[in-house]
Amino acid sequence: MEEKKKIIFSGIQPSGNLTIGNYLGALKNWVKLQDKYDCYFCVVDLHAITVRQQPKDLRRRTLEVLAIYLAAGIDPERNTIFIQSHVPTHCEAAWLLNCFTYVGELSRMTQYKNKSQKYSDSGDPISAGLLNYPVLMAADILLYNADLVPVGKDQTQHIELTRDIAQRFNNIYSPTFTIPEGYIPESGAKVMDLQEPTKKMSKSSGNPNSFILIMDPPEVIRRKINRCVTDSIGKVKYSDDQPGIKNLINILIALQGTTAEEVEKKYENLGYAEFKNDVAEAIVQELKPIQDKVKHYLENKYYLEEIYKKGAEKAHYVSNKVLRKMQKKIGFIPPAR
Ligand code: AMP
Ligand code: TRP
Repeated sequence: MEEKKKIIFSGIQPSGNLTIGNYLGALKNWVKLQDKYDCYFCVVDLHAITVRQQPKDLRRRTLEVLAIYLAAGIDPERNTIFIQSHVPTHCEAAWLLNCFTYVGELSRMTQYKNKSQKYSDSGDPISAGLLNYPVLMAADILLYNADLVPVGKDQTQHIELTRDIAQRFNNIYSPTFTIPEGYIPESGAKVMDLQEPTKKMSKSSGNPNSFILIMDPPEVIRRKINRCVTDSIGKVKYSDDQPGIKNLINILIALQGTTAEEVEKKYENLGYAEFKNDVAEAIVQELKPIQDKVKHYLENKYYLEEIYKKGAEKAHYVSNKVLRKMQKKIGFIPPAR
C-alpha cells in the first residue's frame, strides 16, 4: 500500500509586494518540498487586514501572490492552492482557538511587540486583529493537521504558540490535532535589509532600496545590490562583523547551493564591486523567468480562478471535518439536518 504522505501547510500575506526574503525564506523551499508532501499553500488575505489595506491593492496583490506561487513552480495539480478568505472554516476555528489562547501569550509575541510599538509610536491605534493574528495562523495549520510548516525564521515563535495551543486542546479533550513542526531553511531563513543589514528584509519597509522585490526589473535589482550597505573592510568574508557582505553571501548560497567557503575563495582577490555584480546577476537570472510567468498568469484570470476555486473546495472539505471534530468535542450541538 502506498504510504500516506505527510502534510504541509504554509502561506504568505498579500500585504505588500513580495521580496526575495519571501522567495528564499519560504517559496523556494515549498517548491522543493512539493514532491514529498501533501501540500496546502494559501494566500493569507485574512492575515493581511491586520493592517489597513486599500481594497484595490489587496485584490491585485492577492492574485499576484497566487500567480507568483505558480510561477515559482508550485504545481496546482499536485498541491492545494487557495485563498484564505474563500474557506470560512479558518475564521470559525480561529474563534474557537482564541478561547484556548491567553492574552499574555499573545502580547509576548515578538512580531506583535514590534508592530504594536511601531503603531503607537506613530499614534495609530492597534487593532485586536494584530494581537490575535497568531491564533488565525494556528487555525490555518491545525485545520489540516499539518505535520510541517515551512517558513522563515521570523515565524518560529508563532509555530511554537501553535504547538502550545494544539497541545492544550488535545489535553483538555482528547487527541485532536497533529502537533506541527516548523521547517526553517538552512540558508535564506533570514534575508536581511540591504540598507540596514542587521534588520530583517521586509516588504513593509519605507525605503525601497532596502529590499528586492520578486517583480523588480533587472536594472532595479542591479542598482539596489550595487548600492547596498557593506563595510570598509574590503574582503568578501562570511563574518558577523560584516553583516552586509554576509547577507549577500547568504543570498548566493540560497540561490545557488554553494557554500560560504567557496564564495570566500572565489572572491579572495576581488573587490566588492565584482562580488556585487555577480550577486545581482544571480538574482536576475533566478527571477527573470518567474517574472515572465507571473505576467503570463495574470493575463489568464480564468485559469487563476479555476485553480483557486478547486483549491478552496478541497481545502474546505478537509478543514471542515476537523472543525466539526473541534465543535463536537467542545460540546456544541450539531446543526439539525
Ligand atoms: P510574510 O511576508 O510575513 O507573509 O511572510 C511570508 C513568509 O516569508 C514567511 O514564511 C516568512 O518567514 C518569510 N519571510 C518574510 N521575510 C523574510 C526574510 N527577510 N527572510 C526570510 N524569510 C522571510
Ligand atoms: N504569519 C505568517 C507570516 O507573516 C503567514 C502565515 C499565516 C502562515 N498563516 C500561516 C505561515 C500558516 C505558515 C502557516 O509570514
